[in-house]
Amino acid sequence: MKANTEKFGVTPNQPSLWTRADALKVRADDPTTTQPLVSADFPVLNNDVFIWDTMPLRDLDGNVTSVDGWSVIFTLTADRHPNDPQYLDEDGNYDILRDWNDRHGRAKMYYWFSRTGKNWEFGGRVMAEGVSPTAREWAGTPILLNDRGEVDLYYTAVTPGATIVKVRGRVVTTEHGVSMVGFEKVKPLFEADGKMYQTEAQNAFWGFRDPWPFRDPHDGKLYMLFEGNVAGERGSHKVGEAEIGDVPPGYEDVGNSRYQTACVGIAVARDADGDDWEMLPPLLTAVGVNDQTERPHFVFQDGKYYLFTISHTFTYGDGVTGPDGVYGFVADSLFGPYVPLNGSGLVLGNPSSQPFQTYSHYVMPNGLVTSFIDSVPTDETGTQIRVGGTEAPTVGMKIKGQQTFVVGEYDYGYIPPMLDVTLK
Ligand code: FRU
Repeated sequence: MKANTEKFGVTPNQPSLWTRADALKVRADDPTTTQPLVSADFPVLNNDVFIWDTMPLRDLDGNVTSVDGWSVIFTLTADRHPNDPQYLDEDGNYDILRDWNDRHGRAKMYYWFSRTGKNWEFGGRVMAEGVSPTAREWAGTPILLNDRGEVDLYYTAVTPGATIVKVRGRVVTTEHGVSMVGFEKVKPLFEADGKMYQTEAQNAFWGFRDPWPFRDPHDGKLYMLFEGNVAGERGSHKVGEAEIGDVPPGYEDVGNSRYQTACVGIAVARDADGDDWEMLPPLLTAVGVNDQTERPHFVFQDGKYYLFTISHTFTYGDGVTGPDGVYGFVADSLFGPYVPLNGSGLVLGNPSSQPFQTYSHYVMPNGLVTSFIDSVPTDETGTQIRVGGTEAPTVGMKIKGQQTFVVGEYDYGYIPPMLDVTLK
């Protein structure tokens, strides 16, 4: 990849590297970067559906926005099947874990609303059945565009393929609630190109998803982050000196970590409306470190770019590891160079005693971090678990320079607005 190629008036740098040496600094259970234990007696938002990735309605600058005093969130959602013979075990009991693990294949975009930023009321599906072109509606971002209530929902249309798409609709409020109208025409934006971003043909396990559009506070242009993998045939990537970083003697062996090729992608809009996009080289790559940097997003604070992304234990490469949770990097300008927060990148991980308690953390500019409950152990050995599929307690976090600190815990699914828009 060539450095400093001018494209649409922007000058991307070489991608920053999350190195194996950085990842060796990850310390699970450091109290300043560990999510408080989630109790197994958590409340469930809705017993008919599982919810996971949570996408607060926001503006292009990242501010979580309510409309006419109503907070709105979008969630990836799937029906629960407690009575479906397909999900009963040999004894005729509901195998909720299997149902939960199958959810990605039937993920749909739903919305919820609230007067208090918690205790979310069920809104329903955003798009009617048949509107979205593929089987799965995967994560993205709902953007409130103006005081007419227009909303651009950017999301990922998956299976077949994986395409970043958007659909425009409108949020309508009454005294009694919120509805989403329109959302009838899905516009494909772009797919992986095989030159910067890995395609399905190059790797059946490729990732290309989770659009997060934003206005750059510095140049005012419209950009979009997304999850990708570095282009190239599976197995062909090199984990060289740069990817390894400054490791101690005895840590040079990279095992099979060439299969881990995550990156944070970026695209720039050619038009003001965000209908026409140009992919740019990744902002950050994790070759030899991790295979997934999901749901990338920014917090713009103190003139810096705080880049957050979620990742898993199971997606780390040989010889490096870390908890499921959110990782972060900071730079003085959009195109980097990015430095891992807290030295390692780890910002908020699950405690090792409850490694799957939460996931899909979203850091908001007010320092609150929302996530969903995956599963929580109900006995000492961790063999019995309770499946979540609901909102986790919100965590309070302070961001200072190149460090972050857990400083508080709030109610389940607490996502208060940062500003309110009165609709005309
Ligand atoms: C994160 C995630 C996203 C994806 C969705 C699929 O939890 O893996 O990257 O869009 O879930 O269900």
